Amino acid sequence: MEIENISKDGLSVAKTASLLIDESLPIMSNLANLSRVLFDGFNNVSWAGFYLTNDEGDTLYLGPYQGPLACTVIPFSKGVCGHCATTKRTVLVEDVHSFPGHIACSSLTNSELVAPIMKNGKVVAVIDLDSNLPNNFTADDATALEEVASIIARIF
Ligand code: SME
Repeated sequence: MEIENISKDGLSVAKTASLLIDESLPIMSNLANLSRVLFDGFNNVSWAGFYLTNDEGDTLYLGPYQGPLACTVIPFSKGVCGHCATTKRTVLVEDVHSFPGHIACSSLTNSELVAPIMKNGKVVAVIDLDSNLPNNFTADDATALEEVASIIARIF
């Protein structure tokens, strides 16, 4: 399918991601386009992107994203992303100001949704969505993001 048609409205984020992924390409090429799919695919997103786990499995490094400049290094012990990587669970934060250890890349961010990308039982990356609106993300968003994460896991 043509890229232009894939990007048309109406497809679920998971469906769009699965159409877009090309397993013959480098991971970063896929993640770059997928970051835009995530940015457009959920409501009121201010930042959407990936943090990738290092080989030692203790630190996340900034990957492709859409949005304002972001912090580049997140230890597993820090932030919402680190909490997601440590617990291997999706983390839905209604109010980032109430989340202990939240890392504020943008002072405008108020809510956040982070899902792990799992490969062979390990967190290889996390998907991070931020919103400037408080309580922006729903349980349905979390389910949808987990579905996308399982599709993206194929390219790792
Ligand atoms: N808020 C995240 C850091 C990444 S930025 O939001 C892009 C965290 O607490 O892990």
